[in-house]
Amino acid sequence: MPEFVEIFEMGPRDGLQNEKRLIPAADKIALVDLLSQAGFRRIEVTSFVSPKWVPQMGDAADVMAGITRAPGVSYAVLTPNMKGYEGARAAQASEVAIFASASEGFSRANLNATIAESLERLAPVAQAAQADGIPVRGYVSVVTDCPFDGPTPPANVARVAAALRDMGCYEISLGDTIGQGRPETIDAMLAAVLDELPADRLAGHYHDTAGRALDNIDASLARGLRVFDAAVGGLGGCPYAPGAAGNVATEKVAAHLAARGFAHGLDMAIIEKAAAFARSLRGDAHA
Ligand code: HMG
Ligand code: MG
Repeated sequence: MPEFVEIFEMGPRDGLQNEKRLIPAADKIALVDLLSQAGFRRIEVTSFVSPKWVPQMGDAADVMAGITRAPGVSYAVLTPNMKGYEGARAAQASEVAIFASASEGFSRANLNATIAESLERLAPVAQAAQADGIPVRGYVSVVTDCPFDGPTPPANVARVAAALRDMGCYEISLGDTIGQGRPETIDAMLAAVLDELPADRLAGHYHDTAGRALDNIDASLARGLRVFDAAVGGLGGCPYAPGAAGNVATEKVAAHLAARGFAHGLDMAIIEKAAAFARSLRGDAHA
């Protein structure tokens, strides 16, 4: 039996959040519904963040209300604060994700807060979600390189990952937000984080800006990670990370895993269809 590696689909959230043209909620719903048939266990649908900060995600409630939920699929949303959490709960998100930065520069740019302030703001979100029986996932951003502060010391990533673990996150996803990580820097970062958390509570979230995401996934597989975030069509980028390109493409990761002898459980015909549809939603700037 081939070993299973899970791909957590990010396309509707990380893939689309950076698009300048406001994509109609109906198109986002159609994308999620297509992805729901592809065999994913988890799909990140949208973000309950400030629409002043990320206008593209301003229709989060409409998208959540419009999707057709497939049995066995967890529909995740980002929640940066209690206001976002209330929205997520009202929308009956299956799980929520809280997100923090390993660098002060990116924390300020993305969350308008220091790392310590952001963790303080996230603690009640994690607490409320757990009281409501909603699983909480955590992200650490800029795990190897920050567009503002330069290289990120691995110990800083481990510290923030441990803080999110202590809040009750069931899994911590490690974000190479600007896709500048290399197998060596990813490996050094993982070595530090693995002192705090076992590999089965970690995920790799690698953007493919420099075309090294698959190499970084290989370095992470070697460290025992078995969950990777990816977006169909390789869409995406973070609006507050200059130079950030898309998440590594789901279809690329799936093909790579299959070639390496891992099972991923995805229907590639549906993935290709979803990737083409996702690409069609992009503005001309990316053509
Ligand atoms: P702030 O401006 O300091 O917050 O932003 P505030 O509390 O002063 O609120 C400002 C306004 O936003 C207020 O409205 C609030 O009500 C409203 P006003 O009174 O002016 O009319 N507001 C909200 N509205 C809806 N939902 C909410 C919400 N919160 C406040 N949840 C804040 C602080 C955290 C809100 C802001 O910085 C923010 O929303 N940041 C999110 C940025 C973001 O979404 N970035 C992309 C996702 S992270 C990512 O892509 C990285 C990841 O993929 C991993 C990786 O690649 O590394 C996960
Ligand atoms: Mg990301």
